[in-house]
Amino acid sequence: MKYILANWKMYLDNAESLSLAESLADVAVESEKTVVLFPSTLAFSQVKWALQDSSFLLGAQNVAFSPRGAYTGAVSAEIFYSAGARYALVGHSERRHIFGETDTAVRQKMQACFEAGIIPVLCIGETQEDTQAGKRQYRLKQQLSAVFSQLEAPIGSFLLAYEPVWAIGSGESCLPADVSDVHGFLQDEMKQYTKQPVPILYGGSVTKENVVSYTSLSEVDGVLIGGASTTVESFSRILELV
Ligand code: PGA
Repeated sequence: MKYILANWKMYLDNAESLSLAESLADVAVESEKTVVLFPSTLAFSQVKWALQDSSFLLGAQNVAFSPRGAYTGAVSAEIFYSAGARYALVGHSERRHIFGETDTAVRQKMQACFEAGIIPVLCIGETQEDTQAGKRQYRLKQQLSAVFSQLEAPIGSFLLAYEPVWAIGSGESCLPADVSDVHGFLQDEMKQYTKQPVPILYGGSVTKENVVSYTSLSEVDGVLIGGASTTVESFSRILELV
């Protein structure tokens, strides 16, 4: 199974999201692929509606840590589930670095997803400074342990996305050989937390030009794509290639 995840971030307005969804509705998704779109929260239901007869699945770009309550502006995993979301991104580097999301918040959101029946996609990755200081493995270990050594909910299904912070939206993707090494390391590292196999995706400046260099690797179970998933021309080509 190869996962192809499309994080539309805040790139598209409502009409653009709907138009992209309508164009994708005609694109066939083979059974060995799981394709999940992460539209804006506002466009979520319209996109869901436009793709109701297709095999595309939908996910939340972000969820609140609590199922219900007085949390102005927030949308919970439970509410997303009720609107048809089956996946959620958790700990995306933009949430960690721009919105100051802490390891504790990331853990709480993972827990909230498990409780709501949503499959979380835990995003982890080192910064450029970590790499220069030889701390890549240290950072990844620390981000995993912050979540899995203290989880209260039983661990449900989840995906891991390795996304080096410096590769996201920069046009500077990680070398496939390095991605292979890191994924091997993460597979070993996850054994202490769960017996279930964990699909590991790569993300960071994936394009139609380089996608196959990642998806052809046995250690890579799929890709998380931002910018290149926001036009029908680029994303449908990626779906053909993978
Ligand atoms: P990018 O984003 O493909 O635009 O680099 C990836 C991500 O943020 O998940």
